[in-house]
Amino acid sequence: MSLRHRPWEEAVDFQIGLRPIAIADWLEGGEDDPAVRKDALFERARDLVWAETEGSEAGQAEALGLIETALGPAPAQTGMPPLYVASRRVADDLCLMEKVEGQWRLTALSLSAGGFFTATEAIGKSLSELHGPVTGFAERFLTRVQRVFEGLRPELVLERRNWTVLNSGELHTPSSSPIRALIPQIDPREAGRTLRLRVERQTLRRLPQTGGALFTIRVWLAPLGDLADDPQRLAAFAHAWRSATPDLRAYKRFDLYDHLVEAFLRDPQPA
Ligand code: HEM
Repeated sequence: MSLRHRPWEEAVDFQIGLRPIAIADWLEGGEDDPAVRKDALFERARDLVWAETEGSEAGQAEALGLIETALGPAPAQTGMPPLYVASRRVADDLCLMEKVEGQWRLTALSLSAGGFFTATEAIGKSLSELHGPVTGFAERFLTRVQRVFEGLRPELVLERRNWTVLNSGELHTPSSSPIRALIPQIDPREAGRTLRLRVERQTLRRLPQTGGALFTIRVWLAPLGDLADDPQRLAAFAHAWRSATPDLRAYKRFDLYDHLVEAFLRDPQPA
């Protein structure tokens, strides 16, 4: 990603961090043919990457309409759910949120780059349930996030970003255990090459006709070593790593990577 997004420079705690962006900046692009990557997963591991609820077709079709407005008409695809047709056009993962009996719920998703969750686990969940593992979410953020969903205006596009460090260069990371099991094998001198900065750039838009909302997740990866040549960026990252709040550190399991990241910061080697 050549460090296009550097959210660690902005906050050392969990945050809502939603800001309006221009509609023209909604989709970042940057992947020649996302369908190649997504179709392979759809064939091989459908339950991990695709799920829909009954009754979500209209919202899915409206989401496809938004993507087509941005990128031009999609080739006709028979038998494919509309949200998946939309997802094949974009590097982003697509999540359809709809209000069901008073709760904002995930009613369909195409998830090719899930960060330690799967489509089957997430489908049907409310905002509160989706964020159950996020320390303090219910107390600090839930009401405000629900209000954001209520107040979305049709022409508004909101963006937020998060970040972590992982020893994986894969976009598709449904489960943490196989990745974390490899940490003891990493030579600290190789940390700049082996560890990745993993950024999720997320957007949120209203679907004006059906009343739902489309949440997009785009994952960007870069080797930690990409920070090595820039003292200012390196210092900003060191600050973020060392000043992160205990809750954030625990949630992202920074403890597993401390020895590797500190070795890199002592002797920053390019990837
Ligand atoms: C737009 C408003 C939203 C806000 C402000 C928000 C906020 C957060 C925060 C603070 C986290 C912790 C990691 C991070 O810093 O990002 C998180 C994690 C997560 N969010 Fe959201 N979120 C939003 C919408 C959604 C939606 C629509 C979904 C539906 C797919 C979702 C699914 C998740 C999941 C699955 C996690 C990981 C939970 C885990 O660790 O298992 N979020 N979110």
